[in-house]
Amino acid sequence: MTDLFYPMARQCPFAPPREVAGIQAGGGVPRVTIWNGTRPWLFTRYDDARVVLSDPRFSSDKGRPGYPLSSPAAGSEVTTDPTLLIMDNPDHDHYRRLVLSEFTVKRAEALRPVVRGFADHHIDRMLQGPRPADLVTALALPVALAVICELLEVPYEDREFFRSRTHTMGSVEVTTETAAAARKELQDYLVSLVETRERRPGDDFISRMAVRHVRTGTMTTGLLGAMCLLLVTAGHDTAANMMALGTLVLLEHPDQFAALARDPGAAAGATEELLRHLTIVQRGIRRIAIEDVEVNGHPVRAGEGVIAAINIANRDPAKFTSGDDFDITRDSRHHLAFGYGIHQCLGQALARVELQEFYSALAGRVPTLRTAVPVEEIRFRSDMAVYGVHQLPVTW
Ligand code: HEM
Repeated sequence: MTDLFYPMARQCPFAPPREVAGIQAGGGVPRVTIWNGTRPWLFTRYDDARVVLSDPRFSSDKGRPGYPLSSPAAGSEVTTDPTLLIMDNPDHDHYRRLVLSEFTVKRAEALRPVVRGFADHHIDRMLQGPRPADLVTALALPVALAVICELLEVPYEDREFFRSRTHTMGSVEVTTETAAAARKELQDYLVSLVETRERRPGDDFISRMAVRHVRTGTMTTGLLGAMCLLLVTAGHDTAANMMALGTLVLLEHPDQFAALARDPGAAAGATEELLRHLTIVQRGIRRIAIEDVEVNGHPVRAGEGVIAAINIANRDPAKFTSGDDFDITRDSRHHLAFGYGIHQCLGQALARVELQEFYSALAGRVPTLRTAVPVEEIRFRSDMAVYGVHQLPVTW
């Protein structure tokens, strides 16, 4: 049997590797070899991905021997207190329930005007500055960081610290030790913030959690610190990359960008379609079987790793007709870009509000926006766990 190394390189920056599409079309479930030599099963079909992500016999505990870690950096996730991402039940649901009320659709909607304010403010600044501008540093990162700083009431002045440590932890090219050092710095910073807020609480997420759960002994400062770490990192990196890469895709489809400029009501559909089409969690979602499981007839033995390749599952023709096409008017709901099952993205309501406000503000206010360099000159984030662009020079 030939050894398939995963992930393969992309041929087109806007599509998953052709080989993975070929696997889906062929209907097979191959074993692939990954960077640490383990050989997880690769599930590419939409229905299979949903089983992998919702069957409790698949564990998210990255400390288990043989776990198909997505990169050396992912190994650092077990070096501090655990986050929700690596917990199994019953712990996972117990801790997720403690923070759930902070992440409702209602809460996210209440932040909509604030998010719009951030987008408008940074668009104003970009328009007053030199052309071309880098949309990543001028808009996407500042807006996404402002939102997460607002949510947690962590100081916006420390945004470069949050960004740089998150960047290190999200690189697929650094060692476990380098990622662990960045994680520890962030964790120490947030634990000390938790301690301060516990002593002198205000009306913010960390204070509420510290009073409700740390003071009562339901959560340690370390666990709350790790929860905040997950929110700071998962919360801004994904959103910023969806903003920048999503803008690029819209600019590559000028008719759809113009439609969005004319009608802000199109932003909700555009956001879902961009999430589906781009599925920036590009290395798949990984699990390890703790018992023997059959995934739609395919046997997986206890101890074997699995990858749900959500980027290609989100283009499965059995679920999305002409899945490779980008069309903001299609029904893209039920995509797997936010995952599925108990770990499905906690911040998805907020992410939707952010992306909808961002795309509609940008298209509405800068309808003449265009890229300032050919696509071939843009550096895509193939070296990161979360896909996107490193820079996006734009003009108007
Ligand atoms: C989980 C994607 C934005 C917080 C996840 C997962 C995915 C994902 C795929 C599941 C991972 C797994 O099953 O192992 C995204 C994308 C986003 C986004 C594409 C933006 C467009 C956010 C935001 C926040 C956030 C804005 C916080 C404010 C979380 C948390 C989890 C999570 C806490 C872990 C949930 C759990 O394990 O129970 N996200 N996310 N995400 N996300 Fe997001």
